Amino acid sequence: MNLRSLTGIKPTGMPHIGNWLGAIKPALELTKTYDALYFIADYHALTITPAPEAMKNDTYSVAATWLALGLDPEKAVFYKQSDIPQVFELCWLLNCFTPKGFLNRAHGYKDKLAKNKELKKDPDEGINMGFYSYPVLMAADILLFSADVVPVGHDQKQHLEFARDFATRVNNFYQVDLFKLPEPRITENSQTVVGLDGRKMSKSYDNTIPLFCTEKQLKKITNRIITNSQDVEEAKDPDKSSVFLLHKIFLDDAQAEDVKKIYTAGGMGWGKAKSMLFETLNEQLKNPREEYNRLVADTVYLDEVLKKGAEKARAIAGPFLEKARKIIGVAS
Ligand code: TRP
Repeated sequence: MNLRSLTGIKPTGMPHIGNWLGAIKPALELTKTYDALYFIADYHALTITPAPEAMKNDTYSVAATWLALGLDPEKAVFYKQSDIPQVFELCWLLNCFTPKGFLNRAHGYKDKLAKNKELKKDPDEGINMGFYSYPVLMAADILLFSADVVPVGHDQKQHLEFARDFATRVNNFYQVDLFKLPEPRITENSQTVVGLDGRKMSKSYDNTIPLFCTEKQLKKITNRIITNSQDVEEAKDPDKSSVFLLHKIFLDDAQAEDVKKIYTAGGMGWGKAKSMLFETLNEQLKNPREEYNRLVADTVYLDEVLKKGAEKARAIAGPFLEKARKIIGVAS
């Protein structure tokens, strides 16, 4: 049997090229050598209670994105978290082994507390229990399927540590080997993607390039990348330019060298640099974009794919949870 790779993606708007390079691409790579379980973490998105329409549309958008970028639903198990009731039962079991103080130290919660303090609000204002226990639900997602590796961004490292800790507590308390300890597979550091303003590309900075938009929008967005005010004639330093740093990610070494020469030779304005980037990006996104547009309009197909995936996932989750129920003594 192959090792298992598992990851979850929250349905919160159109994924951007940072998500693609940092999370989606490495996860797709793992499907070649691992049994992959990739899911849409819709109940995690509910902790920030998006409107029902947004929940629906963003779920389809994430599903279509993964499929358009090459996820094969026959090979990987691709499902919606909310379709797997066992996740939520296991979540309760884990809750009962989670020291409250642990969750007090979770980064997401601490950030919210700090923000409230800054704004001189009640420390817990706007924090619901779903948000507070977010890491427990995430541990349930992972432990239910005995994942070996979990491809995630650097920001999820603490969540993985929590999952390992909860698993160990349960295993030790019942003196069993029920839960496998998952390994994080952190990909983000190897290739941090710069955003339009030169900071890390992130939705929270509002500096992203969406993966799938029209050609026209892509052109407009790439034109918004911030540059210095050097004249056309001046030689430019590629390694200090967000335009080049972005461009380079999509080029092989030889191509990157060629583009570098154009920068250092002088005589190239920023408009030209941006349009070279646009051409490369557009070339690589053209086919998946068409596929995305076709898929996102076919919600009947997407529903069918996710339904089949959920059946496969439940076939793993059901027997596993039964084992857990026996161990804790609620089933015999
Ligand atoms: N918390 C993850 C994020 O925000 C999403 C997620 C939910 C997840 N459950 C998971 C990731 C399980 C990996 C494994 O990106």
